[in-house]
Amino acid sequence: MTNDNVDITILQQQAKVRQEIEAAITQMFAPEDKGLHNAIVAGKKAGLPAIQISPIEGKLLQLLATACNARKILEIGSLAGYSGIWLARALPAGGRLISLEISPKHAEIIRSSFSRAGVGDRTEVRVGKALDLLPHLISEAPFDLIFIDADKAPYAQYLDWAMQLSRPGSIIVADNCIREGRALREAENIDADTAGPLQYNKRASSDPRLMSIALPIDTGSTDGFTISVVLPEHRES
Ligand code: SAH
Ligand code: DHB
Ligand code: MG
Repeated sequence: MTNDNVDITILQQQAKVRQEIEAAITQMFAPEDKGLHNAIVAGKKAGLPAIQISPIEGKLLQLLATACNARKILEIGSLAGYSGIWLARALPAGGRLISLEISPKHAEIIRSSFSRAGVGDRTEVRVGKALDLLPHLISEAPFDLIFIDADKAPYAQYLDWAMQLSRPGSIIVADNCIREGRALREAENIDADTAGPLQYNKRASSDPRLMSIALPIDTGSTDGFTISVVLPEHRES
């Protein structure tokens, strides 16, 4: 066996161990019920790509929403409603999730996924380009948690809006902020879908009004969330 072959075998073993750990954590901490499973099946049936967050990420969103006592949550990019169901289930009675989604076809699936999961009463899907819809949310702010997961190029603009629509103590989460590490370093010929998250990370890590961390999550490939807390005005990180 050559050295290269040995390395590949070790890497395959490591990948397998990580997958088994992810599966065990999912089973123990983040099992999917019918409502969540339905959303994935509905998306698949309609031919949508299966690019929803993982169950572990869903549970993490739910935990963060609970930790900040979220009563008002904003989601940007909703696909078939999977992440929205995790979020809506963290809301107390009278709480509200607003999901922004550009595709009317997706919006129909999202609404039916929400109601089948039992969260139709506390959720609202608004159809349009997020950058057009966000200015209309000023009168409904502040949001306690904002989850960003739409198109990647305008990620830094979404962070600006999230900060405008939040309060000290609000939590801002953005998906796809690792991209196998590519969203963490400058490179020549960087594509717009990576440049957006990189710009986002640079801002989130350096803005004195935020305390932030990027968290890699393995789901076959490594991507993950950047998570920020909006700091009180007198305190800088
Ligand atoms: N958060 C979802 C996955 C979202 S996938 C989940 O984890 O379950 C990205 C979604 O963003 C797609 O549904 C896509 O139609 C939507 N989207 C893309 N560009 C958008 C834009 N400019 N404004 C609003 N939604 C957008
Ligand atoms: C894509 C988008 C996502 O939000 C994601 O989590 C994975 C992939 C995509 O557009 O390919
Ligand atoms: Mg995503």
